[in-house]
Amino acid sequence: MKQKLEELQQKLHEYKINSSEDLENFRLKYLSRKGLMNDLFEEFKQVPNEMKRDLGKLMNVVKISVQEKFDEATEKFKSNKTENTNSNIDYTLPAETTELGSRHPLNITENQIVAIFTKLGFTIAEGPEIENDWHNFSALNFPPNHPARDMQDTFFIDEEIALRTHTSSVQVRLMQQKNPPLRAIMPGRVYRNEAISARANCFFHQIEGIYIDEKVSFADLKQTLYAFVKDMFGEEVAVRFRPSYFPFTEPSAEMDISCQICKGKGCNICKHSGWVEILGCGMIDPNVLENCGIDPEKYTGFAFGMGIERITMLKYDVKDLRTFFINDTRFLKQFSNL
Ligand code: DAH
Repeated sequence: MKQKLEELQQKLHEYKINSSEDLENFRLKYLSRKGLMNDLFEEFKQVPNEMKRDLGKLMNVVKISVQEKFDEATEKFKSNKTENTNSNIDYTLPAETTELGSRHPLNITENQIVAIFTKLGFTIAEGPEIENDWHNFSALNFPPNHPARDMQDTFFIDEEIALRTHTSSVQVRLMQQKNPPLRAIMPGRVYRNEAISARANCFFHQIEGIYIDEKVSFADLKQTLYAFVKDMFGEEVAVRFRPSYFPFTEPSAEMDISCQICKGKGCNICKHSGWVEILGCGMIDPNVLENCGIDPEKYTGFAFGMGIERITMLKYDVKDLRTFFINDTRFLKQFSNL
């Protein structure tokens, strides 16, 4: 029996398991109920007691070898199986693409406007979106209970604090902080309690500007805004000023440009007038300068303010303002090459 075991040990060494089929054959041959190992154990029972010790040791070595060989091969073919499934992947398929984002149209317009005014020597100022009454209204010549406050439907937080209704509040902050000459624009988000429609939203974006120095005149205002409009919409754009009213400017005006959609011929956007309003402006009221600590005897200034949504709609023929805020990529993608 000793010889048998030694031979078996030798054969085990030489036994090649190359596939899961071989593995199954190996199991049947050695480990199954009718397999060699069981036979050996049966035979072992017949061995005289004095030989059992030595033979037992040898039996054990063989038993462990068989089991190890089996376990090793099982592991190997198990992992091969997963490799095989992986190899079903078609490595020649094109990779999944990661889509690149693009700038939001309102950002594109804002950047253009900022770039134009930067060229003209304006700096950029920013301020808080939650404002107190003084910066948003009182300093700008809206006395308490004055009907002009109703021009802008306000979201109040309490009696004193509100979401800013215009970026003119940043003009006030700047005038308080710095001495003239001042030449700056203020881009930012503003809030109004308006019903949401194709033409209005409860928040939108503005860019305002001020220029304050000695002897600044309405002619400077006009020239600056002409330069802006020609740069923004092209040389051929026509411009007109209409008298208007804002509490913080005197005189005040609104500026129209020839409709960019119909080129002045008349369409729905310009209500068949050929003109569309793009901004409000005027000479800063001396009261406002005084409220902000600037001597109105020495300094004069102009101010203007425009809605970024409105300019974007006119420039790119966008008919519904709500499309800016839905974040539908089919809409946004159309601006990806700008
Ligand atoms: N703040 C005004 C608004 O939101 C726009 C405006 C008009 C701003 C005239 C100005 C200005 O600075 O001078 O309707």
